[in-house]
Amino acid sequence: MTEQKPVTQAAAQKVPALPDAQTVTEVQHYTDRLFRFRCTRPASLRFRSGEFVMIGLMGDPHPETGKQKPLLRAYSIASPAWDEELEFYSIKVQDGPLTSKLQHLKEGDEIILRPKPVGTLVHDALLPGKRLWFFATGTGIAPFASLIREPETYERYDQIILTHTCREVAELTYGRELVESVRADEMLAEVIGENFADKLVYYPTTTREESPKMGRVTDLLRSGEIFRDLGIEGISAETDRAMVCGSMGLNTDLKEILEGFGLKEGANSEPAEYVVEKAFVG
Ligand code: A2P
Repeated sequence: MTEQKPVTQAAAQKVPALPDAQTVTEVQHYTDRLFRFRCTRPASLRFRSGEFVMIGLMGDPHPETGKQKPLLRAYSIASPAWDEELEFYSIKVQDGPLTSKLQHLKEGDEIILRPKPVGTLVHDALLPGKRLWFFATGTGIAPFASLIREPETYERYDQIILTHTCREVAELTYGRELVESVRADEMLAEVIGENFADKLVYYPTTTREESPKMGRVTDLLRSGEIFRDLGIEGISAETDRAMVCGSMGLNTDLKEILEGFGLKEGANSEPAEYVVEKAFVG
């Protein structure tokens, strides 16, 4: 007599238990405050490089009802629109409702991903220009990690300057490795042209640990030091476009600086010379 086999636990686990579930494919930790992970991409998900989605996990069961609700936060997609997987770059906050759990993700785990991408850090929100500035602090580099891997960025501009300000040197690792990998990317070279990487300028700075370039990017812009370092005259509304993603302080200060150079804020519905988005933290 053959016995009806119960569904094994392993087989049961293959069925997504979460709504909009995606499977984690890779996790890399950089510091005790920063990590990145990759996950599968829903076949139906279309997005523009630079946009964000809501991702998360199921929250703890309600103490009385035992019911669990999804715990979701906005996260910029750090991978480009053409990538078959999705990448996210995240802070770890020990008592943060989501990131205290998210930091323990392992390959094979599932996350919730709502497939409704939105955001202002997209090419469509900027008028044509010659030079594109990316101004990021901390995890605000995530949308630019997407955009510097996007062929359209190099087709639209002669020069792309990625500035990244962090407290400590180790917090620059993700961006530095990313720039190195973009410069060595043979597929991008094939699509955009051999010398595409010459267009990409990387300008990392630290504020609380010694490094070759110290200071907030805002101060370096105000003093003109960044222009002297890069051999650039300055920022002008005719040629320069900018995308900003960081803390509220950075966003407010940069708005003022960019407006001072004559740039106006754009949106999807009305493209102009610069766009801003808050870096999302858990
Ligand atoms: P600082 O060390 O001088 O505060 P955080 O870890 O707090 O999110 O900060 C990330 C980086 O952003 C730090 O290097 C921090 O510099 C910098 N930063 C914070 N506020 C501003 C601002 N208003 N303009 C430019 N950089 C800023």
